[in-house]
Amino acid sequence: MKLSRLRRPRRPSSTLSCAASVGLMVIGGWGCTPSKPSVDEKKTASAAEAEAEAAREKVMRQAAEARAAAADKAWDGWTHTPRLAGLSAPPAVPDSNPMGEEKIALGHRLFMDKRLSKDGSRSCYSCHLNEYGNTDGQQKALGAGDKPLTRNSPTIWNVAYHSELYWDGRAKSLEAQALGAWRGGNMGVGADNLAAKAAEIGALPEYAPAFSAAFGVAPGGEAKVTPEMIAQAISSYERTLLCGETPHDKGTSGAAATRGWDLFRGKAQCAVCHNGDNFSDGLYHNVGVGFDVDGSPGEGADIGRGKVTKDAADNYKFRTPTLRNVSATAPYFHDGSVATLEEAVKYMASGGVVKGPSADPLLRPVALSDAEVDDLVAFLEALSCPGSLEVLGDQAAPWSKPAATP
Ligand code: HEC
Ligand code: HEC
Repeated sequence: MKLSRLRRPRRPSSTLSCAASVGLMVIGGWGCTPSKPSVDEKKTASAAEAEAEAAREKVMRQAAEARAAAADKAWDGWTHTPRLAGLSAPPAVPDSNPMGEEKIALGHRLFMDKRLSKDGSRSCYSCHLNEYGNTDGQQKALGAGDKPLTRNSPTIWNVAYHSELYWDGRAKSLEAQALGAWRGGNMGVGADNLAAKAAEIGALPEYAPAFSAAFGVAPGGEAKVTPEMIAQAISSYERTLLCGETPHDKGTSGAAATRGWDLFRGKAQCAVCHNGDNFSDGLYHNVGVGFDVDGSPGEGADIGRGKVTKDAADNYKFRTPTLRNVSATAPYFHDGSVATLEEAVKYMASGGVVKGPSADPLLRPVALSDAEVDDLVAFLEALSCPGSLEVLGDQAAPWSKPAATP
């Protein structure tokens, strides 16, 4: 949608002054014949403008103060990470899995442990590596048993702010996602073997005391460590992987990035979908990735959200991804089909290739000069997350280098 359409339509009102209706005459030609303003009238007009400007500034200042006060309140009592600029609140924590320092530390170790996978070949971290902005640098991930998966690995920075997980949102919580990744193709353990695997991990002497501290499962006792406990610990750890304090958040990003930010919110209309602290509306859109140039779904195109809701209207929709750390997470899109950030930006600005009723009306083509594309890229580069995951143990990936560009 064009931003101008979002603005309230200007309509003449009975109280409209002749001076104010001059602008309208250009559009509609409503009756008011302005006479040449006298010096006094000019002064009054500029005084009125200054007053309006001051009022606007006051409203903006009050809104900023209200936001800051709300953020102070939201962060109050959160002890698991430092408070970060750019994040107005810490992530929500489900009542069923309260945060705890022992549980977080345990989750960190489990996330880094290859023994969780069926064949000991890969940890969660294997596909969410620091070097690639916490993705794997591959076009599509390579699951357990070196079975190719269908999608590109997303970054896990700020993953706790998504209310639904995966490109298609099929997991309703981090806990459900962790169980899914562990049971399914990523780690390959299988539903039938999950309980045994959890008990085996839980009984390892290096883990038993930690499960006892975090979940009260006594080492050697009757009660066994369950898959749910493992998923809970990993999720608690993930709720500490917060990305703020980027150059953009701190206001240190430079002139090109600032111009890019203005384009992003203005002319290029990216913020229609990429909005909020995490630059994602959390909604699903068909932007035509995987479509042929003629605007129809490509051979074997991934139907994305449609598979989850079983509603054909949702076919080919994917959740708007976060843009935090995006300059480090090439290749791009759910299918890893685009190699560089510049190409990804150009694709989005082109309005996508999708045609017909499934085309998302929010994605409009905008003509951008090369300099404007560069500015948008500079803005996205200013969203680089300063943190990195603390790596534990041997994390040599089952693949030695990122796949060749697609
Ligand atoms: C073989 C590579 C691989 C491994 C191993 C792996 N992941 Fe992922 N991860 C992916 C891919 C690919 C996706 C996206 C899949 C999709 O959307 O269908 C993903 C998605 C995610 C997401 C959702 C991100 C979002 O934006 O919604 C989280 C969280 C996550 N993984 C955490 C984990 C955890 C926890 C483990 C270990 C239990 C793990 N991953 C193991 C490749 C991997
Ligand atoms: C209609 C909503 C919408 C608008 C408007 C939009 N995007 Fe996106 N963006 C998406 C969705 C959805 C995806 C994921 C598409 C996929 O993988 O199939 C995406 C993906 C991206 C990616 C790739 C991220 C990754 O991790 O792979 C970048 C970069 C991006 N958008 C930048 C932009 C820019 C820059 C603009 C403005 C020119 C923009 N987007 C406008 C919804 C939108």
